[in-house]
Amino acid sequence: MKILLIGASGFIGRNLSGVLRQAGHDIVPVSRHHGVDVSLMRRSEQWLPWLRGVEVVINAVGIIGESGGQGFAALHTEAPVALFDACLAAGVRRVIQISALGADTRAASAYHLSKRAADDYLRSLDLDWWVLRPALIYGRGGASSEMFQRLARLPIVPVIGDGRQPLQPVHIADVVATIVACMTSEQARTTLDIVGNEVVEYAHWLQRLRLAQGYRQGGVLHLPLWLVLLGAWAGQVFSPMLRTENIRMLVTGYRASPNSWNAFLGRRALDFSPALLRANAVEALSGQGSVS
Ligand SMILES: NC(=O)c1ccc[n+]([C@@H]2O[C@H](COP(=O)([O-])OP(=O)(O)OC[C@H]3O[C@@H](n4cnc5c(N)ncnc54)[C@H](OP(=O)(O)O)[C@@H]3O)[C@@H](O)[C@H]2O)c1
Repeated sequence: MKILLIGASGFIGRNLSGVLRQAGHDIVPVSRHHGVDVSLMRRSEQWLPWLRGVEVVINAVGIIGESGGQGFAALHTEAPVALFDACLAAGVRRVIQISALGADTRAASAYHLSKRAADDYLRSLDLDWWVLRPALIYGRGGASSEMFQRLARLPIVPVIGDGRQPLQPVHIADVVATIVACMTSEQARTTLDIVGNEVVEYAHWLQRLRLAQGYRQGGVLHLPLWLVLLGAWAGQVFSPMLRTENIRMLVTGYRASPNSWNAFLGRRALDFSPALLRANAVEALSGQGSVS
């Protein structure tokens, strides 16, 4: 299949590319790394040349914090809307949109609202669409996954307040396997929350990451929310992940039932293990059968 992959250089994009190439698919990659600034692609005519001969469009572009010319509205909403219109005009029916857990009726942050606006638009179109909403994704090479691993290695593990914020981390291989299944599934026009089998509290997750990296269980430093927010505000110049809004999303703690997604995929999420934390999607899926 010829696949247009937006966000091909990212964590999801790289892992997906690895699995798709192994299966013999033809990928047309789009990202700034590949010479295209998607935030400037806000008219459907700009997308049309990219869609020639394409059978599946996968949108895995995104940012976790706004910076410089990078805004949520342009990148998460306006460019994807133009892309979806172009798909309709060009007769490319199969569109897979990577959204995020929490981009639903509970959405309150600019990140979630900008994602949901594109999701809602796609859902209104006569296309074979999927909207996939992954929880926090772990595995080798993910920026947020590695930030949490670094936090977990500190001499004392810092947590927000009581550290009981709920998470449902899911491995990158499960996200990639779902996207691959959507490419050929007859069950289009579906929204799926891609979440781990269990809800893990934030402090517990960090301890799990700590043990998986060969450290002993660590002491916990309970930081008040106001101090974490202040630290994120001060540190935002260093990392787009350090945003007060991202701390608030973490504290809100989105969760969802895995049932619909498990039924679609035909299995549960992979269970966490130290080996899985270090694995990319190709490695993790190699024991799970081939991708076609
Ligand atoms: N990772 C997670 O835990 C997680 C969980 C839930 C949802 N998601 C969502 O899934 C999507 C992909 O996540 P990810 O972890 O793969 O993120 P990532 O590693 O940060 O990758 C983001 C991708 O978007 C591209 N991009 C960003 N700004 C761009 C621009 N102006 N023009 C062109 N491309 C641009 C990046 O490429 P360049 O930098 O080369 O341009 C990269 O390919 C995002 O929408 C994210 O919100 C991720």
